[in-house]
Amino acid sequence: MATELTSQQITELTAKHTYGTWRYQKGWRPLHVVDAEGCYFIDGAGKKYLDFSSQLMCVSLGHKNQAVIKAIEEQARKLSYIGPGYATDVRAKLSQKLLEVLPKNLTKFFFTTSGTEANEAAFKIARMFTGKTKIIARYRSYHGSTMGSIAATGDPRRWAMEPAGKVQGVIFGPEVNCFKCPLLHTYPDCGIACVEYIDHMIKNESDVAAILVEPVVGTNGVLVPPKEYFPRLREICNAHGVLLIADEVMAGWGRTGKWFAIDHWDLTPDILTTAKGITTAYVPLGLCATTKKIADFFDDHYFSHGHTYEAHPLTLAPAIAAIEEMQKHKLVERSAELGEYLGQKLTALKDKHPSIGEVRGLGLFWGVELVKNGKSKEPFNTMTDKVSGKPLLVDKVAGEMMKNGVFLQAWISHFVFAPPFIITKEQIDEAIRTFDTALAIADSEVSG
Ligand SMILES: Cc1ncc(COP(=O)(O)O)c(C=O)c1O
Repeated sequence: MATELTSQQITELTAKHTYGTWRYQKGWRPLHVVDAEGCYFIDGAGKKYLDFSSQLMCVSLGHKNQAVIKAIEEQARKLSYIGPGYATDVRAKLSQKLLEVLPKNLTKFFFTTSGTEANEAAFKIARMFTGKTKIIARYRSYHGSTMGSIAATGDPRRWAMEPAGKVQGVIFGPEVNCFKCPLLHTYPDCGIACVEYIDHMIKNESDVAAILVEPVVGTNGVLVPPKEYFPRLREICNAHGVLLIADEVMAGWGRTGKWFAIDHWDLTPDILTTAKGITTAYVPLGLCATTKKIADFFDDHYFSHGHTYEAHPLTLAPAIAAIEEMQKHKLVERSAELGEYLGQKLTALKDKHPSIGEVRGLGLFWGVELVKNGKSKEPFNTMTDKVSGKPLLVDKVAGEMMKNGVFLQAWISHFVFAPPFIITKEQIDEAIRTFDTALAIADSEVSG
């Protein structure tokens, strides 16, 4: 019988033979994880960590949800795979479920195996439908890792692939960020110049097929737009015949306290893409949902897109179970309710810590942005620091929290708080206490 590998060997083999994503490979020492349950995961030494970012903001129902696991098991026995050209029980039932929860005008679906592929599908559909080419995206954004979706990504993960934007027909507009406005305006006196600039771009560019936005920007800082932004963006899109694509890969599925983030503004996109929480991340599923108007177009036009794993039965069954769990346990409402509690606790920390520049969020989705200088809002680290492999201050803080048993995602100069919806107030308090203590590292480096 083969001898068991030790945790150290597992870490070494993983680092030696597999790629660590979005990082320099040198120095990668991935933690050996052996188990996870509820809001915790456990390493090879038996140490428990409170998962305060639901891994990659995706395990929304927490680890080991039994209903979702059962759906995977049953589907594996019943029909593990059939090609995308066939009708299946789960394909029909999930479609019905999606009609219950998605913005009402989205009625036709293309299933993928990631958020990245959902966005690729959206770009191709938008181009085929409009007959136009360009996609407008925004600087502070992430839309995926393949050539089209990385080209539409505003953050520095795109840089290694330049001139990706040019090749793929993507142009960038300003993000909406009222803490650090890229146009140097101040809300509400700004007239929402960031959205008016998109109008200016469309008028001057011609050939714009779609604008792609994360309704609440995720990894790039949990940026929540002011209330005027989306109604005006919808108006601009309508006026120019440009499609509005809402990328809800991270912000969807109750994360912001509504089923979808766009629901906060009572308007509907032409295309909505999503993934992650759709199956609470236990199996890889993405979705590209379109309006009937777009769907009807393809009745008489060739739908030039597909994958071997499109509508893969093993990915669809757990999505039905995950949506039913959310409905049964009223988890969207719980995200809204507990999100207020989490927001209050984080906001209270701001008065205490000079390193906190801003606290912002919706539902159980909060960002805390650190600043080296409170007046100038100068960050501790920049995008260039990130891609040059320089140690980042946010990673030091997150490392300290891991030592103390709390996992929190950090990105350049902020943290993303996005616990599973089954989190309790006591667990929120535990995470806040750990964050409060770890922030001493950042406070000690504040200057001015
Ligand atoms: C907003 C957004 N879009 C797209 C993606 C890509 O999704 P995936 O990693 O499933 O390909 C992500 C991933 O984090 C995301 O946050």
